[in-house]
Amino acid sequence: MNHFLDIHKTSPDDLRQIIDQAAQMKSARAGRPKGTPDDDQPLAGRMVALIFEKPSTRTRVSFDVGVRQMGGETMVLSGKDMQLGHGETIADTARVLSRYVDLIMIRTFDETVLTEMAEYSDVPVINGLTDRTHPCQIMADIQTYEEHRGPIKGKKVVWTGDGNNVCASFLHAAGQFGFDLTFTGPSQLDPEEEFIGLARKAGSTITIERDAAKAVAGADLVVADTWVSMHDSQSSKERRHNMLRPYQVNDALMAHAKPDALFMHCLPAHREEEVTSAVMDGPQSVIFDEAENRLHAQKAVMRWCLGV
Ligand code: CP
Ligand code: NVA
Repeated sequence: MNHFLDIHKTSPDDLRQIIDQAAQMKSARAGRPKGTPDDDQPLAGRMVALIFEKPSTRTRVSFDVGVRQMGGETMVLSGKDMQLGHGETIADTARVLSRYVDLIMIRTFDETVLTEMAEYSDVPVINGLTDRTHPCQIMADIQTYEEHRGPIKGKKVVWTGDGNNVCASFLHAAGQFGFDLTFTGPSQLDPEEEFIGLARKAGSTITIERDAAKAVAGADLVVADTWVSMHDSQSSKERRHNMLRPYQVNDALMAHAKPDALFMHCLPAHREEEVTSAVMDGPQSVIFDEAENRLHAQKAVMRWCLGV
């Protein structure tokens, strides 16, 4: 079964097919009102459950709209309103949902919830973010980079700040799509060694550089994310901000990158914290294309999952 659990768990050929299909589907419906159905209706008659145990704007709306454009139907469920939040096991929940729906997308905290859901589900499961990874975001980011600048293979991506879940999926993508990644941030927030090792094993150059300006030198793409993720305790906020302040993406830092470098952020952003408004709203920023491409990339992911 084609679960979409993580980028390193999907083959490079399948990932490439998904990105190419996302680009084709995007151009096929360019300029149409968002509520217009796609010409083909690959999800006609299909029901998709979207489960959220954490807040979401982009993931929720882009999956919902994407399914409808492809002719399917959705059901948006909040984890806390389900029996899942009141002691029913994940395995039993997965077995039950598989009797009603054709596809499950889940955003959760602990990765084991996702993997157990996939293990016991009879229908494909998609990772809509866990504490550890966020693969759908990075599929949209690869699509976005390539529509602006061509193939990402061989390019230099610089991740600034916290080596978090989004950074982890970028590391997975480095290995699978063949780009290099430099992490710049405090040592306490380094990405997981295991993920660095996987990318290196796949042939990518992964560099850790504490000096943000040196890290960004020659970058093709600079990426930032929030300094406090949804799974981080609010009490860690001040400590994190103090550690991360030197890694803010601002005009001075972007000046070290290549002149045609792009800036990305998965959003939601905290303006003037991890990135300045000048960069977010500046000519190198493609943040709203990234947000739009969540829709197209995930439509292609769902088609791949269902084989339609
Ligand atoms: N980037 C992203 O996943 O946004 P949401 O949390 O709004 O879904
Ligand atoms: N790292 C962030 C990403 C949000 C889309 C978080 O997990 O909160």
